[in-house]
Amino acid sequence: MAGGARRVLVIATHNAGKLEEFADLLKGYDFEIVGAGALGLGVPEETEADFVGNAALKALAAARASGCVALADDSGLCIDALGGAPGVRSADWAETPAGRDFGVAIGRVEAALRESGAPRPWAAAFRCALALAWPDGRRVTAEGSVRGEIVLPGRGSLGHGYDPIFRAEGEAKGFGEIDRWVKNRQSHRARALAEMEPALRDVSRETSAGGA
Ligand code: IMP
Repeated sequence: MAGGARRVLVIATHNAGKLEEFADLLKGYDFEIVGAGALGLGVPEETEADFVGNAALKALAAARASGCVALADDSGLCIDALGGAPGVRSADWAETPAGRDFGVAIGRVEAALRESGAPRPWAAAFRCALALAWPDGRRVTAEGSVRGEIVLPGRGSLGHGYDPIFRAEGEAKGFGEIDRWVKNRQSHRARALAEMEPALRDVSRETSAGGA
């Protein structure tokens, strides 16, 4: 599985956008990045109640199936006035009979906020948990978040998911209005990855023969 001297790191996602973002964020490491899709790995059901649990579940499944070290993330938008919802259910709020639709998810957020009666500003955070797992079951986890507020109506057409309705603290522009690569560098995912750095450095130094 290892290509030449480079250490293979499986990214446990089938989402091409996430894979690209990880490849960008991991540029400073000497990894050969391989996505779960390229290896034909399955998609485990996210059955845990929190981000860390779901990230660990995905990383372990990919590590065991591939025989390589695997990195997974689980993320979402947590709105204070909604008790942290949609949170780990962020993707589910976009489900429609015709597939995922984040216009629908944003409409559901707006309806829930109006129903809550909570006044603006609506404080919120994007949160991300990362898990690095080995085929033998070892794992390391890290978390990162970006605080900000919900802006309605949504702004901008950049980014994905809930980006149009989120503005980070101290920023004039919302996530839907800033360049994707600029956003990625300051994102909840980037912050979690920075916390994961020591473990990732250790893995990149391990030899492929030293236990994938
Ligand atoms: P999962 O981590 O694949 O379970 O999906 C998390 C969901 O949270 C995504 O489908 C998005 O809806 C939302 N989400 C996570 N991070 C972001 C972000 O940076 N911008 C917009 N939406 C996000």
